Amino acid sequence: MTTHAGERLLCTLDALPDGGARGMLREGFDDRLCVVRQGDEVFVWLNDCPHEHRPMEYRQDRFLSGDGQHIVCYAHSAHFDIRTGLCFAGPCTGKSLIKVPARVVDGEVWIAADLPSVFDI
Ligand code: FES
Repeated sequence: MTTHAGERLLCTLDALPDGGARGMLREGFDDRLCVVRQGDEVFVWLNDCPHEHRPMEYRQDRFLSGDGQHIVCYAHSAHFDIRTGLCFAGPCTGKSLIKVPARVVDGEVWIAADLPSVFDI
């Protein structure tokens, strides 16, 4: 298997629905990551809403608005830009999700080996 220094393999690109999202890196009842695919691009965020630091999905893998255009935290309906992670509507407007560095290489999604912490901000 190919390895990349400072990174770890998350999944293959094909494992992600194009235009959809999946929760990944399960710990207990929650997924640590919110992973969104748009074509050949993948956006990876900590599954941690900046409002009350809760997981965002209302059930497994359901992170997006009905039209698939935004990430939505279903606790209090905060809306986030998929690409920037910025909350543009809801109780934490102006705050951002925490980005996990990710890149797609030869059909595989690689992320930073060390995840950022909510306590780093
Ligand atoms: S915890 Fe996400 S909007 Fe309140």
